[in-house]
Amino acid sequence: EKITLSVIKADVGGFVGHSAMHGDLIEEANRRLESAQGRGLIVDFHVTSCGDDLQLIMTHHKKPDNQEIHQLAWDTFKACTDVARKLKLYGAGQDLLADAFSGNVRGMGPGLAEMEFVERTSEPIIIFMADKTSAGAWNLPLYKIFADPFNTAGLVIAPTMHDGFRYEVHDVKGAKRIFFDTPQELYDLLVFIGATGRYLVKAVYARDGEIAAVSSTERLALIAGKYVGKDDPVCVVRSQGKFPAVGEVLEPFTMPHVVEGWMRGSHHGPLMPVPLRHATPSRFDGPPRVIALGFQLAGGRLIGPRDMFDDPGFDEARRLSNTLANHMRSHGPFEPHRLPMDEMEYTTLPQVMDRLKDRWEPLTKK
Ligand code: 13P
Ligand code: 13P
Ligand code: MG
Ligand code: MG
Ligand code: MG
Repeated sequence: EKITLSVIKADVGGFVGHSAMHGDLIEEANRRLESAQGRGLIVDFHVTSCGDDLQLIMTHHKKPDNQEIHQLAWDTFKACTDVARKLKLYGAGQDLLADAFSGNVRGMGPGLAEMEFVERTSEPIIIFMADKTSAGAWNLPLYKIFADPFNTAGLVIAPTMHDGFRYEVHDVKGAKRIFFDTPQELYDLLVFIGATGRYLVKAVYARDGEIAAVSSTERLALIAGKYVGKDDPVCVVRSQGKFPAVGEVLEPFTMPHVVEGWMRGSHHGPLMPVPLRHATPSRFDGPPRVIALGFQLAGGRLIGPRDMFDDPGFDEARRLSNTLANHMRSHGPFEPHRLPMDEMEYTTLPQVMDRLKDRWEPLTKK
């Protein structure tokens, strides 16, 4: 029998500002999901947060894109929004862009990563969750995990992985997708996924077609057509056996790659891997954070979590993140700390530019 793992997330109010989560929202979400578990709709669940984003991790037998599961997530976010409104938390209901639920949360603001599979004898899963960054943040780590032999020793050593993986890449501006087989098509893959604002790794598959990883690719700015905070995406990765080992899945985050997000969603900065207790981006509303929760599945039960970045092995990455953060910050309002103009379209900057439009004088040849 197949099990579905659904991770659905939204920012429905920050405490304080955009920096973290209020405990009452976690409590409300727990109450809702507990009741759904009691009704038999879901097998198990875990509620957590990264910064000001609330994540609902659920297992069930209803398959991805299921209306009842999505309704449960939507209603839970709505109920948590009510709690946030009562406490006047910041940006209550921020990511709920639609007035009413219409069958599927896709395109309504929440981010989602869902996968269905037959649970193996042992099924280690890592769930990555980020705050103060955009959906493109997973492209580089997903490349390293499944296609870079300098990161993943198993690509060379393990007969189960030596044939490589298949990437599903979405063009979120053109609403189309393409598949690449690695290692054969590595260079073709990189042509696209190096452009993290437009081409997103949606999923990775083993060569036998089994799902290995799935990420949330919802881009809030494209849905809303204006600035509504950052996507703050999630990504689920299966591990061990014919998939990369747990340590190979975590290894890319020792290099704090530069992502977009941070203050007002308008800046580049390093993605800092942190334990859950440090997923509270405060410095200049950042720097961007990523947490990794590990679970073993057992008949759909979520055994865990383990807080995978709570390891001194990631201390140097955190230190380097702070060094890079200082350097980026010292650029102030200058690029490349500030995002390029075409990305600033989705911020409030165009309104300021608009006020100055009549002051421009043409440059005429004498
Ligand atoms: P252990 O001997 O600790 O089980 O380690 C096995 C391994 O392959 C680690 O990558
Ligand atoms: P969030 O997307 O996490 O709400 O961030 C918004 C923001 O503007 C931070 O400065
Ligand atoms: Mg927020
Ligand atoms: Mg957020
Ligand atoms: Mg956000």
